[in-house]
Amino acid sequence: GGSSQYDFIVVGAGTAGLAVANRISEMKDFKVAIIEAGDSVLNNFNVSTVSGYGLAFGTEIDWAYQTKNQTYAGGSAQIVRAGKAVGGTSTINGMSYTRAQSEQIDALEQFGNQGWNWESLLPYYKKSERFQVPNSDQVSRGADYYIKYHGDEGPVKVGWPKRLTPSDVLPVLDKTFHKLNISYNRDVNGGSMVGLTSHPNTVDSDANVRQDSARSYYWPYEDRPNLKLITNTRVNRIIWSNKPNETVAIGVEVTGIDRVYTIYAAKEVILSAGSLRSPGLLELSGVGNPDLLKSLNIPVMVNLSSVGENLQDQTNNALAYAGADVWFGSPTFSVLPSAKQIFGKEVSTIASMVSDRLEEYAKNVSELSHGAVKADNVLEALKFQHELIYKSQVPFAEIVMLPISNSFSSEYWTLLPFSRGSIHITSADASVPAEIDPRYFMFDSDLSAQVAVAKFIRKAFGTTPLNTIVGLEFAPGLKTIPSNATDATWQGWIERQYRSNFHPVGTASMLPREKGGVVNSKLQVYGARNVRVVDASILPFQLCGHLTSTLYAVAEKAADIIKKDYAN
Ligand code: FDA
Repeated sequence: GGSSQYDFIVVGAGTAGLAVANRISEMKDFKVAIIEAGDSVLNNFNVSTVSGYGLAFGTEIDWAYQTKNQTYAGGSAQIVRAGKAVGGTSTINGMSYTRAQSEQIDALEQFGNQGWNWESLLPYYKKSERFQVPNSDQVSRGADYYIKYHGDEGPVKVGWPKRLTPSDVLPVLDKTFHKLNISYNRDVNGGSMVGLTSHPNTVDSDANVRQDSARSYYWPYEDRPNLKLITNTRVNRIIWSNKPNETVAIGVEVTGIDRVYTIYAAKEVILSAGSLRSPGLLELSGVGNPDLLKSLNIPVMVNLSSVGENLQDQTNNALAYAGADVWFGSPTFSVLPSAKQIFGKEVSTIASMVSDRLEEYAKNVSELSHGAVKADNVLEALKFQHELIYKSQVPFAEIVMLPISNSFSSEYWTLLPFSRGSIHITSADASVPAEIDPRYFMFDSDLSAQVAVAKFIRKAFGTTPLNTIVGLEFAPGLKTIPSNATDATWQGWIERQYRSNFHPVGTASMLPREKGGVVNSKLQVYGARNVRVVDASILPFQLCGHLTSTLYAVAEKAADIIKKDYAN
């Protein structure tokens, strides 16, 4: 019984949480506790199996968050998956290791976060990484890289699965996409992402097991005497000191296996519960929109209406073809086309059509937030995003090419939707799920974008030589979507079939407070003395890469910031 005292409490042993906890615990004088709702999955087959993507879905280690019915996207609710385990979502994800377009990381600084840019983050991407140079067999199957972009001393093993898709597939893709004006990109992780690539994964190539954040940042260090992992324990809220005029966290209230108690932190509480949990924990702790907090009888500690706003996710659809061949091995091929490559000659017309709508979009977002976010701030972000897409020509979509067994399918998502949603608690009881509303396809340009990419994929599969290694399209199939189908027909299919791409970000954005930020450039929550957020919530914009590589870099940088703050 009794209570325990630590210096730092990290809430959530997830992707970013374990990384930041590991690095802080390098300071031997500081006691670090990591509190995790889930359990160890070290011996869970659904986690470790490299080709087992999807096995963990719907099991006890998947939070399977439910959204509100999606008004703009066919009306039904969606499941947003996230890992409930030591290792968080990195234990169930697709393991793709792709970073971001450099302009997107540079934008963090342009929007007011001093010290956050591609050049300053690259050393942290590398610091987290242990790149495994592919062997000659993997190279012959398409594994490729520039060594200058990779680190070889970090905890996260990055490389290619042991057994890759046969070597004749990549040349077929290369020739096909060349005809569609898309060239080959040797290394998608150098800040320049457009092209066809065979990206690495977070995988231990020799052992051939998933390399999640627990296998990287926790298990090899579990004996550190000042690093304590507390599992099967849900954090309910931050406990504040009762000193007047100061918002000082002294610990967290938790629900353990059989009781509710407090765990104390002498220095800081760090929230790493993920984009769909950290904002709710702030609200449960009295940090958020005063109207909401008062309606739930939660005492207002910090008036910060931006908490839980600015939710951004992507939408995923799939096409599938019969294989003219049978393929064994793991594919890691992605195509990342720019808007120009998708729209061709139409691109400038489309750019100006979208541009004409941005003011209205921003106004809508602000209105739906009841003024919690300001239209001017949204507009600035949307304009910047438009520039990235149509001027900088960053990747517009990711198209994953999946020749597996006797079919060749393709999953894709548009990378930078304009829609903005929100997540808010609905009760002061921490066990009640929050209301998640990503507002998928809130703006018609997002739906048109999703259609344009589907049509492009169908075109690619009809192009030689790719069309010689596949047979009939069975999803959606020509019966459902004839070759002369209208956009409206495609839209209907998308609304029926889409799912979340499971990349929620932005709900505790790192931005200046007046621009809608929840945390400053040191990841400290505005208005609180000693609370930070270190997880996907802090990314103010969506990225063109998958998220874990960037989250590891963010956590590495956060740890250095924290170490500096406490150095004396
Ligand atoms: P993360 O979810 O990792 O950690 C949060 C932790 O907090 C969890 O362990 C959770 O149980 C815990 N927690 C939550 N509430 C709590 C509470 N109240 N008390 C205590 N603990 C609590 N990315 C990528 O790079 N490559 C890929 O291929 C994919 N593919 C992919 C597939 C699928 C199915 C999903 C769901 C996601 C991906 N992603 C991905 C996305 C990526 O995995 C994801 O964005 C990050 O892992 C999120 O890391 P965080 O640290 O933000 O949260």
